Amino acid sequence: MTLYETIFARRSVRRYDEEPPDAAALSELQRYLDNVGQLPGQSAGFEIVDRDRLKGGFAPYAILAYSEESEAACVNIGYTLQGVDLWLQNQGLGSVWCGMATPLGKSPDYRILLGFGRTSMPHRKGEDDFKRKGILEISNEDNAVARAARLAPSAVNLQPWFLTFSDRQVEAKVNVRGIGRVLPGRLWLFDMGIVLRHIELALTHEGKVVKELAVNGSGRSLSVSVRY
Ligand SMILES: Cc1cc2nc3c(=O)[nH]c(=O)nc-3n(C[C@H](O)[C@H](O)[C@H](O)COP(=O)(O)O)c2cc1C
Repeated sequence: MTLYETIFARRSVRRYDEEPPDAAALSELQRYLDNVGQLPGQSAGFEIVDRDRLKGGFAPYAILAYSEESEAACVNIGYTLQGVDLWLQNQGLGSVWCGMATPLGKSPDYRILLGFGRTSMPHRKGEDDFKRKGILEISNEDNAVARAARLAPSAVNLQPWFLTFSDRQVEAKVNVRGIGRVLPGRLWLFDMGIVLRHIELALTHEGKVVKELAVNGSGRSLSVSVRY
């Protein structure tokens, strides 16, 4: 299975086996994190920790993400760790984004964590297993890229983006209504990066050459875009 195909099979895993991933899997993950692509100008840091370093959460292990405090840095963490979320599930491990859990003794540049570990939860069988908004509620076109974007995970499943396809460009704008208005700002910033990763993987799968990934504007006017 490719990372693109994993988009249609992943789920948030909240039940884990106690047995830890084997040492080889952890060092593979470390290698992956050391080389994972980040957005231009961004350099988030990542640390793998076990449950002893965590307060709350479901998973026996976690990747803690660190960065400067800026909107673009949070979008970058979303983009980067969504690649890791898909990679972990592709390896047969479970993973879950966790805005509510925190590390013990957290440093000021801590932003969010992605929990992971062994699981016996099966992959999803396909698009129909996902609870998501209708495609035209999140996009101006129904196409393969929008369908992959639609399955992106988001905090409280808010799906706070709207995609617009134009000439050789896809833009996802923040679209936060209802409960989203009271969510802490940072969480939907991660969501914007997460959906950007799904858009990029889908375009690449379609044989497009991605030329530029960008974060534009700020606050509720923020958008992410891909030029290809
Ligand atoms: C930024 C972010 C933060 C999240 N925080 C939590 C959390 O604290 N607790 C939790 O159970 N799930 C959390 N989730 C998982 C979402 O609830 C989940 O992605 C969404 O309901 C869609 O379900 P799925 O990932 O299984 O497709 C978070 C997701 C994201 C993207």
